Amino acid sequence: MAERGVGEPQAGGRQAEEDSQTRGATPTQGGSENTGVDVGVSESSESSILFVGDLVGSVGRRTLLECLPALREQHDPTFVVVNGENVAGGLGITPKAANEILAAGVDAITLGNHAYHRREIYPYLDEQPKIVRPFNYLRGQPGRGACVVEKGGLRLGVVNLSGNLFLKAGRSAFTEIDPALRELGEVDHILVDMHAEATSEKVALGWLLDGRVTAVVGTHTHVPTADGRVLPGGTAYITDVGMTGPRGGVIGVKREQAVQALVTQMPVRFQTSDDDPWLMAVLVRASKPRRADSIEQILMPRPNQAHGH
Ligand SMILES: [Fe+2]
Ligand SMILES: [Fe+2]
Repeated sequence: MAERGVGEPQAGGRQAEEDSQTRGATPTQGGSENTGVDVGVSESSESSILFVGDLVGSVGRRTLLECLPALREQHDPTFVVVNGENVAGGLGITPKAANEILAAGVDAITLGNHAYHRREIYPYLDEQPKIVRPFNYLRGQPGRGACVVEKGGLRLGVVNLSGNLFLKAGRSAFTEIDPALRELGEVDHILVDMHAEATSEKVALGWLLDGRVTAVVGTHTHVPTADGRVLPGGTAYITDVGMTGPRGGVIGVKREQAVQALVTQMPVRFQTSDDDPWLMAVLVRASKPRRADSIEQILMPRPNQAHGH
């Protein structure tokens, strides 16, 4: 089953690439023919963004660190962005964990509904410009919701949003995205992490932003969806990237505990599972400013445990 799991999504990724190619991703040539003027649409923005779904616990952090070298060698991503809302024992993030992730060369960290679970992160969220919590939280809450990171002369804007259905967010994701994009200013690419429970909110945000940003990626459910594609306006989209953590649990929790809680309807103390850790991510490739050429799903087992299951 594991082997099938690796093969299927990659086939889907190739399909997405083919779809985008048939859409006609030859901007410079087409522009020259139509107008007689070479608009010279910044060939220099050729780049790629690796976005990694919610790191769950220390096992998620270790899985990222062990998968990154192979991913860099294979895909050479310009930017790496990870969602870190579950990295501290399954809930929240600590300055130590965030520093370790950034030290591994990760360019930015996004969060979600567990952003404030650990108090020690509050000042860090205000001080560290490479970590973002949902932009549509209240302005008085610690941290920022948008940031710009730079690599090789390219600027990537990162926006984190929270859905409003079944999650607590002080303001609407759908009205706050405009001020968030304005705050980024002039950037080469924009990645929006829509951290939401409801698929409808994520799909709707994808359509709202199609043609305005490079990618809209969904997080929070910890289960990857099979709908990765480039929308007609050129925005890469997926409803949920999935998690980087234990597939052997229940969205990160030890399966015996999660099952017991559901069977008995009684409180159970949850612990993070470390069974069968996988990295779940997407790779977005782009050759035009703020538009994507392709989105490829990457689902890979933690290297040194690949033979253990
Ligand atoms: Fe999460
Ligand atoms: Fe979440």
